[in-house]
Amino acid sequence: MSEQKSTNITWHAGHVERGDREKLLGQRGVTLWLTGLSGSGKSTIAVATEALLVQRGHLAYVLDGDNVRHGLNKNLGFSPEDRTENIRRIGEVAKLFTDLGAVVLTSFISPYRADRDAARALFRDGDFVEVYVEAPLDVCESRDPKGLYAKARAGEIPEFTGISAPYEEPSSPELRLPTGDQGVEQSAEQLVAYLEKGGYLSG
Ligand code: ADX
Repeated sequence: MSEQKSTNITWHAGHVERGDREKLLGQRGVTLWLTGLSGSGKSTIAVATEALLVQRGHLAYVLDGDNVRHGLNKNLGFSPEDRTENIRRIGEVAKLFTDLGAVVLTSFISPYRADRDAARALFRDGDFVEVYVEAPLDVCESRDPKGLYAKARAGEIPEFTGISAPYEEPSSPELRLPTGDQGVEQSAEQLVAYLEKGGYLSG
């Protein structure tokens, strides 16, 4: 838990409520929290789902680990403490975007169960959907889209998830996407179907 450093602050409510924005958008805000190893397919699935949703007239937005680490989280590395702070900030940003009424897709390894649970705890029931992008390490390593596993095996990247840093599997995710066995399209459709069934996409 991050220390509260600011004092003498008061919450200021707006005149527009979340329900007003959701009515405007014809959808319910939600965060689909994708977690999984590097190379498991999180970002590819997130951007495919975002495109599918926007094509169908919905507001969707991807928050991606590599991208967010270029800006908001550029001062964070890959130590356990920095990963915790990375996920804490993204949890808060995703909560804001969910309050906006968007379908948020977060694409972060988020290797620690406690960090994912802390993110979930920020949300109302039903607003946070944990999605395990599930591919075995050897599959991710054989894909190695960024050449990082090879570097990690050569000892050039310390604390690399799955090689020299842990990945704690979700114990009860709302959804599992077995990307070793199914393609990107199928995973994106699985996510959209979940949203449709849950009533997130109807105004
Ligand atoms: S997290 O663990 O804090 O959730 P995040 O998803 O933001 O990680 O960033 C992971 C991405 O950073 C990977 O996809 C990879 O491109 C890159 N990366 C660089 N160094 C590491 C490392 N030591 N462990 C994992 N990923 C790394």
